Amino acid sequence: MAQEEFMLTQQLHGVTLVLLRGNIVEVQTDAIVNAANSSLAGGGGVDGAIHRAGGPTIMAECARFDGCPTGSAVVTTAGHLKARYIFHAVGPIYRDRPDDARLLASAYQTCLTLAEEHALHSIAFPSISTGVYGYPVTKAAPIALRTVREHIEQTTGLQQVLFVLFDANTYTAYKTALAELVQ
Ligand code: APR
Repeated sequence: MAQEEFMLTQQLHGVTLVLLRGNIVEVQTDAIVNAANSSLAGGGGVDGAIHRAGGPTIMAECARFDGCPTGSAVVTTAGHLKARYIFHAVGPIYRDRPDDARLLASAYQTCLTLAEEHALHSIAFPSISTGVYGYPVTKAAPIALRTVREHIEQTTGLQQVLFVLFDANTYTAYKTALAELVQ
């Protein structure tokens, strides 16, 4: 039986970009990005997994914010997780409107800016908006990867950017989008 593929590494402007199939709560990066909602109230998917694994301090910190607008992100500490910070990013609910792509890119860009502001070396993203929020992953993956590439083309302190992708379909979509991005 062929071994299932689970990891791909690509050097991009001096930064190591990693596509990893797995569970984001298990990775060790300076920041882990959560796919949150605008009330920061918790939920299922990555959000549920992060709050479950990280413990109640993360929700207590989320409650101090007056929510978070779509396309933006807020910072908390990471509770029991191995990261220093959780960046709670709010992607758009997919409606097939021109604004969807702008808001999705903005959610990623806000996290990258926060990483620079906190002088971080590594960050792990899930596939924001492509679960409950219904963004087709074949459309979302190129936006996510392009936003990262455009960011790291500028001066960056980041050394490693991970995309932690839960299922085979999502992993394959990112792998295809990365091949197109670097060709
Ligand atoms: N690690 C990595 N990826 C995960 C994990 C995990 N532990 N759990 C789920 N995923 C994947 C999903 O399979 C999907 O590919 O993350 C991607 C994003 O899915 P969602 O978590 O549903 O996020 P999103 O589509 O942005 O919807 C956000 O869902 O959980 C609620 O509170 C959240 O209301 C918000 C909405």
